[in-house]
Amino acid sequence: MDRRSFLKQSTRLGIGCALVTTIPACSLFDEPEMLVCQLSELDRVSFVTQKFNRKRILARKMDGEITIFSLICSHKRCTVKYKEMDEQFACPCHEGLYDKYGQVIDGPPPEALSRFQFEIRGEELWVLNEFQK
Ligand code: FES
Repeated sequence: MDRRSFLKQSTRLGIGCALVTTIPACSLFDEPEMLVCQLSELDRVSFVTQKFNRKRILARKMDGEITIFSLICSHKRCTVKYKEMDEQFACPCHEGLYDKYGQVIDGPPPEALSRFQFEIRGEELWVLNEFQK
């Protein structure tokens, strides 16, 4: 390969890599599922947080039902924090506030927090890379 061809190839690869790395949620590289925790853990603690495909999630058992929330704010995609004492999710970026069910209480978020699909496999809770509808 001569110098000119090498530079052309490098430029193409560089642009391709730059495009891939700037796409915020490139599903091409996402894991389809992940073990979140043992079911017994959700009986012992209030909630479990994990990182799934580079984003925070929170699993909780509430009134006997399991929910796995995406902790990505529906406004500008900041990571929200769960305030256990207030039973609310608070977004530090623009003071968005969600109730314990992930519904918007206050601030600019246009939608509720997304909830992930999940599966229970024996004693394990698995999150799937799909949102509930
Ligand atoms: S990003 Fe959460 S309120 Fe704006």
